[in-house]
Amino acid sequence: MKIENTKILKHSHLVGDYRLLVLDAPEISVQAVPGQFVHVRIPQLEGSALRRPFSLYRAEGATISILYKVIGRGTAALATAGEGSFLDVMGPFGNGFPIPDADIMPILVAGGYGVAPLYFLATRCSQKGVLFVGGATDLDILCIEDFKSIGWDVRVATMDGSLGTKGLVTDVLDAWLKDNSDRDDYSPAGQEIFACGPDGMLKALGDRTIAGGFNGWLSLDKHMGCGVGACLACVQRLRDEYNHDYWGRVCKDGPVFESRQIVWE
Ligand SMILES: Cc1cc2nc3c(=O)[nH]c(=O)nc-3n(C[C@H](O)[C@H](O)[C@H](O)COP(=O)(O)OP(=O)(O)OC[C@H]3O[C@@H](n4cnc5c(N)ncnc54)[C@H](O)[C@@H]3O)c2cc1C
Ligand code: FES
Repeated sequence: MKIENTKILKHSHLVGDYRLLVLDAPEISVQAVPGQFVHVRIPQLEGSALRRPFSLYRAEGATISILYKVIGRGTAALATAGEGSFLDVMGPFGNGFPIPDADIMPILVAGGYGVAPLYFLATRCSQKGVLFVGGATDLDILCIEDFKSIGWDVRVATMDGSLGTKGLVTDVLDAWLKDNSDRDDYSPAGQEIFACGPDGMLKALGDRTIAGGFNGWLSLDKHMGCGVGACLACVQRLRDEYNHDYWGRVCKDGPVFESRQIVWE
């Protein structure tokens, strides 16, 4: 873990409420793996929780990138940070996604900004797979050109039908799984789901992976305090291999859990 005083190299508006932040953070970048997050101290924020967690979207050379949505006072304050100014960033934190074996067909499923860590994962996969990405409207669909540029198949769903198929991303996934069920390389034994997005989507995916007999690696999004396992602000009920329930910390034990580990309340 590193604490870096990072210079903002780029800070731009993407679409809707989403923004891109590129930071000069060589020590974090060299350690980062897909699915990990950084804890950013927000300038101008007062109170007990001064930092906010964000997944790593890219870690290339000396730089890291974050893709974030302005939803509250922390992200609104972050949006005012100018290029050339500095941000105090801790990380990388968390376990990250397992990198799929070369014989595994990776299926990535994202909701909104959940696409950010999945793009980082796609860049580390030796086999090209399929990205399913969903959102409320076309203004919630990000990074699809990134995936296409590295040869991935991209399937989009929006609730209002403004881009891709109208409806839930899980409906598009179900149709695709049905259509491809007789292909040897897409058999349940040869596929895994990696997902990041809202709880409802993750639970629905977890149910499918358990029913289908394959692994689902789900990145949970919880409110955080310390980010390092000390305050218990981020606990999640989990189940071990002996079927015993226990409380895990999303920041330290996760944020990525296999679907069978998670007990949804
Ligand atoms: C491991 C991890 C990775 C994340 N990666 C990203 C990312 O790549 N990009 C991104 O935009 N965001 C990401 N988030 C979520 C991000 O941390 C929150 O959006 C941010 O903390 C909100 O801060 P705020 O002060 O603007 O909102 P607040 O003022 O704290 O909250 C505004 C509203 O959002 C809700 N909210 C706040 N935090 C969360 C949360 N974590 N999950 C669900 N609802 C929340 C609050 O209940 C409230 O309704 C991640 C969260 C985690 C735990
Ligand atoms: S945020 Fe403090 S224990 Fe996870």
